[in-house]
Amino acid sequence: MTPLVLWFLLSVIACALAADLPRIQVALAVQFGPEQNVSALDVTLQIDDTQSRAGRPLLQLDLNHGLTPTLRYDGDALSASDSRGTLALSYTDTNASDAQRTWVPLRDPEGQVSVGLRAVPRATNASTPSGPRIDLRADQGGAIGMATGFIPHPPADEDCPVGRRGPLAATLLGASGTVLSKSYFAVGPLKRWPSWDVAPGADERPFYVYWIGDLPYDSDRMSGIAKDIHLAISSFFGDATSPFRVFWRRVPVGYGGAGGHNSFILEWADGTAEEQSEEAVTFLLSHETIHEYALMAPTR
Ligand SMILES: *[C@@H]1O[C@H](CO)[C@@H](O)[C@H](O)[C@H]1NC(C)=O
Ligand SMILES: *[C@@H]1O[C@H](CO)[C@@H](O)[C@H](O)[C@H]1NC(C)=O
Ligand SMILES: *[C@@H]1O[C@H](CO)[C@@H](O)[C@H](O)[C@H]1NC(C)=O
Repeated sequence: MTPLVLWFLLSVIACALAADLPRIQVALAVQFGPEQNVSALDVTLQIDDTQSRAGRPLLQLDLNHGLTPTLRYDGDALSASDSRGTLALSYTDTNASDAQRTWVPLRDPEGQVSVGLRAVPRATNASTPSGPRIDLRADQGGAIGMATGFIPHPPADEDCPVGRRGPLAATLLGASGTVLSKSYFAVGPLKRWPSWDVAPGADERPFYVYWIGDLPYDSDRMSGIAKDIHLAISSFFGDATSPFRVFWRRVPVGYGGAGGHNSFILEWADGTAEEQSEEAVTFLLSHETIHEYALMAPTR
């Protein structure tokens, strides 16, 4: 039996440069069900924001991107507290077709605000539309998804340097809403290219490919091609330093990809042999890589 390798990412976002800038720390605790399958991620958000007031937006989450719903967190799914105890929240939704939910505290918060929620991977089947690929989905005993689908974040207008910590140590800088919400998270019996015991060389930029189970082609060969494409295209656009991560996810139907922060996700399904030829995958990899730097049509 393949040993079960359990990995989770702990993302820590901290505005360390100035004490009174808002700060959010995100911790993900993995919950396991029968057969060690990932059943949920318990998410804790710790928010330090001296500007926080009753009625002032504290957290936001998109309710859907096109046909893909996020986890929404209806009713009292978010529980908040601060140094005075329970902090009641309420939310309003925009009426746009891609709607957004905004939570506000009902009284002035005192000290650090802690918000807890449980993210249960979305149930999908062969009738589930294949995109946009922003949802947290179960995948062969694990789960993979983009934060915008399941982690509420502070309103995006607050710029904030960002650090990320975890088994995949990395440091990132950017606007909090963008970096957090466009980051992918993966947990479960993850495989990696290069394999988990290979550390990048001192002068090498991190480039990793992650998946669960077995890819329908030679994963070493295609991961090497993905890296070559990434190095060529990122250098062309003058980026010689960004780390990069590619995530694969198996889905009931559909085939394609979606971009994230220094990362993208690709989906594959049984019965798409033609689209999974090495030539077709190479095309998809180059398409998604260029997307990281330039807008392109058709979107895919
Ligand atoms: C959305 O529509 C409902 C019903 O028409 C209305 O009560 C609500 O105020 C609207 N919300 C926003 C944010 O426009
Ligand atoms: C398939 O999944 C969708 C959600 O994507 C759900 O609404 C539907 O009920 C599911 N159908 C079956 C047969 O389970
Ligand atoms: C656990 O995940 C595996 C792989 O997807 C699946 O075959 C199995 O049915 C799952 N077990 C349970 C109890 O859900």
